[in-house]
Amino acid sequence: MKSIFLSLSVLISTAVGSHPRDAFTRAKPRDASPGLITNLGARTSAPQHVHKRASYSSPYLNNNTEQFVVNGTAIPDIPFDIGESYAGLLPISDQLNETRKLYFWFFPSQNPNATDEITIWFNGGPGCSSLTGLIHENGPILWQTGTQGFTKNSYTFVNLTNMVYVEQPVGVGFTQGTPDISNEVELGQQFVGFWKNFMQAFQLEQRKVYITGESYAGYYIPYVADAFITQNDDEYYNLKGVAINDPIIGDNTVQQDVILSPYVDYWSNIFNFNETFTNYLHSLHSSCGYASYISKYLTYPPPPGPFPVPPDPEAVRNSSCATWDIVYDAINYLNPCFNVYHITDYCPLLYNPEIPYFNRLDVQAAINAPVGTVWQQCTNTNVFPPTGDQSLGAAQDGVLQRVIEHNNNTIIGVGNLDYILPTNGTLLALQNVTWNGVQGFQSYPGSREVFVPYHTEYNQGSLAASGYVGRWGQERGLAFYQVDYAGHQQPQYAPGSSYRVIELLLGRIDALDQPGSFSTQ
Ligand SMILES: *[C@@H]1O[C@H](CO)[C@@H](O)[C@H](O)[C@H]1NC(C)=O
Ligand SMILES: *[C@@H]1O[C@H](CO)[C@@H](O)[C@H](O)[C@H]1NC(C)=O
Ligand SMILES: *[C@@H]1O[C@H](CO)[C@@H](O)[C@H](O)[C@H]1NC(C)=O
Ligand SMILES: *[C@@H]1O[C@H](CO)[C@@H](O)[C@H](O)[C@H]1NC(C)=O
Ligand SMILES: *[C@@H]1O[C@H](CO)[C@@H](O)[C@H](O)[C@H]1NC(C)=O
Ligand SMILES: *[C@@H]1O[C@H](CO)[C@@H](O)[C@H](O)[C@H]1NC(C)=O
Ligand SMILES: *[C@@H]1O[C@H](CO)[C@@H](O)[C@H](O)[C@H]1NC(C)=O
Ligand SMILES: *[C@@H]1O[C@H](CO)[C@@H](O)[C@H](O)[C@H]1NC(C)=O
Ligand SMILES: *[C@@H]1O[C@H](CO)[C@@H](O)[C@H](O)[C@H]1NC(C)=O
Ligand SMILES: *[C@@H]1O[C@H](CO)[C@@H](O)[C@H](O)[C@H]1NC(C)=O
Repeated sequence: MKSIFLSLSVLISTAVGSHPRDAFTRAKPRDASPGLITNLGARTSAPQHVHKRASYSSPYLNNNTEQFVVNGTAIPDIPFDIGESYAGLLPISDQLNETRKLYFWFFPSQNPNATDEITIWFNGGPGCSSLTGLIHENGPILWQTGTQGFTKNSYTFVNLTNMVYVEQPVGVGFTQGTPDISNEVELGQQFVGFWKNFMQAFQLEQRKVYITGESYAGYYIPYVADAFITQNDDEYYNLKGVAINDPIIGDNTVQQDVILSPYVDYWSNIFNFNETFTNYLHSLHSSCGYASYISKYLTYPPPPGPFPVPPDPEAVRNSSCATWDIVYDAINYLNPCFNVYHITDYCPLLYNPEIPYFNRLDVQAAINAPVGTVWQQCTNTNVFPPTGDQSLGAAQDGVLQRVIEHNNNTIIGVGNLDYILPTNGTLLALQNVTWNGVQGFQSYPGSREVFVPYHTEYNQGSLAASGYVGRWGQERGLAFYQVDYAGHQQPQYAPGSSYRVIELLLGRIDALDQPGSFSTQ
């Protein structure tokens, strides 16, 4: 199963003009825009001298961390002070000869409520850089696809808490060393080693730790959380909750193919298929057994598990039951700019500034990255050699259960415009999970509204909806929410509700339908 994620993710273009590949990928390759991945023109400019001596005092600034200081006024093409931050490489173990290092960028928060917290952000892939989330989704600086340059982000999670964006596992982005893991348990162990070094360097011992992210981080986050729980050491691994949006947590046929025909029917004004094709899709939905699977298992409460895994995804993908692929091929004729992450996109494809930017030598020098790295948004190195990630989804092997039960503070949500991992597929995967003694949601987790406070930030680069934007529900320590006008990268498409979710995660609000204003206003 996992080789699919890898082989296909390698094939997808990361070029300028393609959709940002933040993310879990299963799509067929697109035609790359010519020559763009090598568009590293700025690499010829010499790195500027970067001043490392900080002229301020901070609880985070010490002899260990001075080397990581980022001068917030000296980052190329950012026309404002980004504030205090630290970036660089730290090893994944305490061995002096350790060659494997992860790259981080840490943003302390000014929020007085955050003084005992630290929150980690992961993008997915596998193999994609968490710097994507930083500059496209929830960091303090945004340069979103198709926009002119950097702007401040009014909805950055840094307003709420101390955020650290970590590129992992080894092989991704600016990380150093040779990938040598083959599953998520090993990934968790390597992250545990890095994390102790990070916590020690910045003297964050005893802090509450939260983890958030999206997509393939549906694997990373529960497994890293589980590795933290196993450490049983609150000095460094004091896990208090996790929030994951648009995750892969289960079998990918269940999350993608089984629920696809009803998804296309629901969005028929966007897919706009002809009658012949629609009838064909309906016939596959029945003959592949998907209709009966949904009517039996996507129920509240669910029938007693375990749910059977549909026929081998590798085989299915090559057959007429690969409904996700079949629809993907058909929609690309009608909408050649179809975006698996956000189905209401049409042509033209938008410019993605990220790859040329992080390949500039002056940028690399300014953010303490190894200068000269050929940085990729999603690496084409296999980060789980040789045969891909061998782990089961966190919803299939007890990992998600342990994480939920540890804190009763797990939040999972999906953007309803996400095609790569649609809402009902995630719900179907969750109905097979037992947590706190009961299997699945007992009633549909959508009886309550998601409310985003009315607010006045109209920064042109960072706009967020307000009012009632989705639905949610919560049972026995697991909250599930869905957001109407959001695609896969939720903090990008729907920053207000993502901000709200982090407020819930951190305990700043009690519910996603809580009225009133943001906790920071
Ligand atoms: C930060 O960068 C600015 C602009 O390049 C420079 O004037 C300033 O001296 C730098 N600050 C430190 C502490 O190095
Ligand atoms: C940092 O190192 C200097 C010189 O070695 C020393 O004087 C100073 O006390 C150290 N500061 C901290 C915070 O450890
Ligand atoms: C570091 O040294 C130890 C023995 O001292 C050895 O077992 C280990 O393989 C070495 N690691 C690397 C990355 O060279
Ligand atoms: C998701 O499933 C529910 C039933 O649980 C159904 O009413 C709804 O139409 C489905 N939505 C999509 C987009 O398929
Ligand atoms: C349902 O959960 C069981 C473990 O309880 C797992 O073995 C099985 O693969 C899961 N089914 C699906 C469809 O993921
Ligand atoms: C997939 O199908 C094609 C023809 O439809 C066939 O040539 C190929 O061998 C199949 N691959 C596998 C792995 O079954
Ligand atoms: C209907 O759509 C399918 C899939 O795009 C296409 O292959 C077929 O030619 C279309 N048929 C008609 C009658 O338009
Ligand atoms: C989580 O909630 C359940 C009730 O759903 C309760 O039995 C359990 O003790 C709680 N666990 C924690 C860690 O709070
Ligand atoms: C701090 O948290 C409380 C809720 O615990 C909230 O009411 C308050 O607005 C928060 N303050 C800031 C500055 O975020
Ligand atoms: C985040 O902080 C900035 C700067 O203080 C502020 O202008 C903005 O309103 C805050 N955003 C939210 C959602 O509170």
